[in-house]
Amino acid sequence: MFDLKKLKGKSVALVGGAGFIGHNLALKLKELGAEPYVIDGLQVNNIGYYTSDYEKNINAERYIAFINERLSLLRKAKIGLKIIDVRDYHAISHAINEIKPETVVHLAAIAHANRSNKDPFSTFDHSLRTLENVLDVTRSKGIHVIYFSSSMVYGNFDGETVTEDRECNPMGIYGALKYGAEKLVIGYNQVFNLPYTIIRPSALYGERCVSRRVGQAFIENALVGEDLTVNGDGKEGLDFTYINDLVQGIVLSIIKSNSINQIFNITFGAARSINQLAEIVMEKFPGIKLHHKKRDGLMPERGTLSIAKAQKLLGYTPQHPVEKGFVQYIDWYKNFAESNPQFFKK
Ligand SMILES: NC(=O)c1ccc[n+]([C@@H]2O[C@H](COP(=O)([O-])OP(=O)(O)OC[C@H]3O[C@@H](n4cnc5c(N)ncnc54)[C@H](O)[C@@H]3O)[C@@H](O)[C@H]2O)c1
Repeated sequence: MFDLKKLKGKSVALVGGAGFIGHNLALKLKELGAEPYVIDGLQVNNIGYYTSDYEKNINAERYIAFINERLSLLRKAKIGLKIIDVRDYHAISHAINEIKPETVVHLAAIAHANRSNKDPFSTFDHSLRTLENVLDVTRSKGIHVIYFSSSMVYGNFDGETVTEDRECNPMGIYGALKYGAEKLVIGYNQVFNLPYTIIRPSALYGERCVSRRVGQAFIENALVGEDLTVNGDGKEGLDFTYINDLVQGIVLSIIKSNSINQIFNITFGAARSINQLAEIVMEKFPGIKLHHKKRDGLMPERGTLSIAKAQKLLGYTPQHPVEKGFVQYIDWYKNFAESNPQFFKK
């Protein structure tokens, strides 16, 4: 699937690379023979966040363990880590000049719609300020910048399968900043000829995530014997995507020249209802029940993202429907809970 010759020794800087997506991507790139380098401040949704005021966060101990495992895996794989705040222009400029990457993947952000709406100032700073710094230090150097956008740029899907050329009507701070950021990336291409790729993922799940989105909350509740709660009637579909599929799409975007100056939906490519996801969890944890509460009006109604373009131009072939990927994820969680029961007390 991958042309390993194109990856051998390729230097890739991952900005926000100690996060959920970034560390999984770094490990895969290293395994395939590339030279990934992680740049991260470790403060946002990371070790700094969970270790300060940890008594306020009931999941802190568990998430600190996940993040420590990420850092340990990166260390064992001999992947370089620079701890810097990318809002600092000089720090990121120095890091890029030292690493001399051929590709930069920009992942830094406040990666939560509801946290973004509660704190727009910080969201702008960590998401857009960091991106502008990265674009400015990479421009005119021929460095390929891969920007992580989101399915939230589309706004309400209105029942359709969305393609990349569909009009965007984002809702709330997170979606607006993602869309603005896409336009900024394209602006740098127009003015400085910066080669870019924009990736729009959706509803990711997988090992060592600490974001507690709906699927993760289901598993964590079930592990401590608590029922599952869904905002809304649960019939809404989401294009749940296993991290390994997304990583495949990013690796292909790094290798294939067809990815240059393109926007791609990288998801599983078929929405499943939240109720269906809950059923998978309830099958694995007999006795657990599902409850519904009022839906958050600021979350757009989403659904399937068409992956036809990524299939055609990149040869992207996701392998994990929820029956496979989500079950794998549940089994990983169960094993972790068995070895670390102290993190799963009610
Ligand atoms: N996880 C998903 O379901 C999903 C879906 C769509 C889009 N995305 C986007 O993908 C990207 C990565 O998501 P993730 O799930 O890995 O998030 P994450 O929160 O796990 O990782 C983000 C990383 O960025 C780092 N960071 C933030 N601000 C920084 C700064 N100022 N300086 C240095 N590092 C900084 C954090 O420390 C963190 O490690 C984000 O842009 C997110 O919006 C994620």
